[in-house]
Amino acid sequence: MKHDIRILMLEDDATDAELAEFALRKGGLGFEMVRVQTKEEYLKALAQNPPAVILSDYSLPGFNGHEALDLARERCPGVPFIFVSGTMGEEVAIETLKSGATDYVLKTRLSRLAPAVNRALREAHERSAHQRAEEQLRESHEQLRALSIYLQSVREEERTRIAREVHDELGQALTSCKLDLAWIAGKLPKELKPLLQKARDLTAHIDSTIQTVRRISSELRPGVLDHLGLAAALEWQANEFESRTGIRCHTDSHLGGPQLDSNLSTTLFRIFQETLTNIIRHAAATKVVVTLRQADGRVTLEVEDNGRGISKAEISNPKSMGLLGMRERAALLGGAFRIGRVPKGKGTRVSVSLPLRRPDRAHRLNHENPFSRRSRRGAPRVEANPGRRV
Ligand SMILES: Nc1ncnc2c1ncn2[C@@H]1O[C@H](COP(=O)(O)OP(=O)(O)OP(=O)(O)O)[C@@H](O)[C@H]1O
Ligand SMILES: [Mg+2]
Repeated sequence: MKHDIRILMLEDDATDAELAEFALRKGGLGFEMVRVQTKEEYLKALAQNPPAVILSDYSLPGFNGHEALDLARERCPGVPFIFVSGTMGEEVAIETLKSGATDYVLKTRLSRLAPAVNRALREAHERSAHQRAEEQLRESHEQLRALSIYLQSVREEERTRIAREVHDELGQALTSCKLDLAWIAGKLPKELKPLLQKARDLTAHIDSTIQTVRRISSELRPGVLDHLGLAAALEWQANEFESRTGIRCHTDSHLGGPQLDSNLSTTLFRIFQETLTNIIRHAAATKVVVTLRQADGRVTLEVEDNGRGISKAEISNPKSMGLLGMRERAALLGGAFRIGRVPKGKGTRVSVSLPLRRPDRAHRLNHENPFSRRSRRGAPRVEANPGRRV
């Protein structure tokens, strides 16, 4: 030990205390010893300046070793506690270790004392370093989670803004081009057939561009989700999916009560999109059945396909980032995400269940940038899903 350590000794016999001190010095320990004899002195010493180690006799007048141990565990739990006793039998010694004592040394074998103290100090140091590391890990995990929530919210907000601008600005500009073109075409003499044909082609081209703009805009953030709610948005997405892939997609939504919270519907909607993407990419299915239910304070979305089915290895594969993202997204709202084979059937079933009244952490979806101290107006509204589009 480079620095002197502070040892608190609970011992009523002055000679025994001196012998212990001598054994410690002989063992090479540098220390400052505070000796107490009564419960009052002991409590005072614990409160004033917690020691690096406590050495305690087992039988004390008006006070006993067990009580001293309990008090030490309560007041300074990380401090090693070693019994130094002349009377301790093996059974009692084992009992004290079970109750939290670090070690015991018999007064007839004081040569063991210094090594026992050194070992106890080393272990206490390792324990606290370990606790610190765990604490840091927990903190950085919390920070990463907060960052992920923030990034998802920002992303969703950005998508909504771009979707609105693409829809409004480009849509209106194209519509007015179409009107102007119709006006010009109306003024063209009937004999200028090639020009009239060109105007008709251009009108058709503008029409298809308007459709493309609408599609891009609703892929970014379907307006139906904000205006008509989750059930309508799922139905819309299912129809899009069916017409694009030819895979039948049946939706069955029963949502009673008022519209769902926006974080909740965005989360379910994005998980639904990611699930449909997976079905296109992996399932080789011909049919998908979607059910949305609200019961017992939870909203549950189930998507079942009749494809090849998912294996346990695929589910537990740490590289399955899509599945991980969906699981994390549900967890952020205090919910659960499950994926597995359809029981007694063919295909895969995805089930997401989210509580309607979300725990506190879910409200952090509206949080500010976790790395910014300044408050941010117009904080992110909703949680996003980085999943690809169908
Ligand atoms: N409906 C499904 N039917 C069959 N297998 C599936 C289905 N959904 C997922 N899988 C399997 O689970 C794996 C993990 O899916 P996950 O979405 O995590 O990854 P991915 O789709 O391969 O890639 P990405 O990270 O781009 O989403 C897939 O590679 C696929 O093998
Ligand atoms: Mg995927």
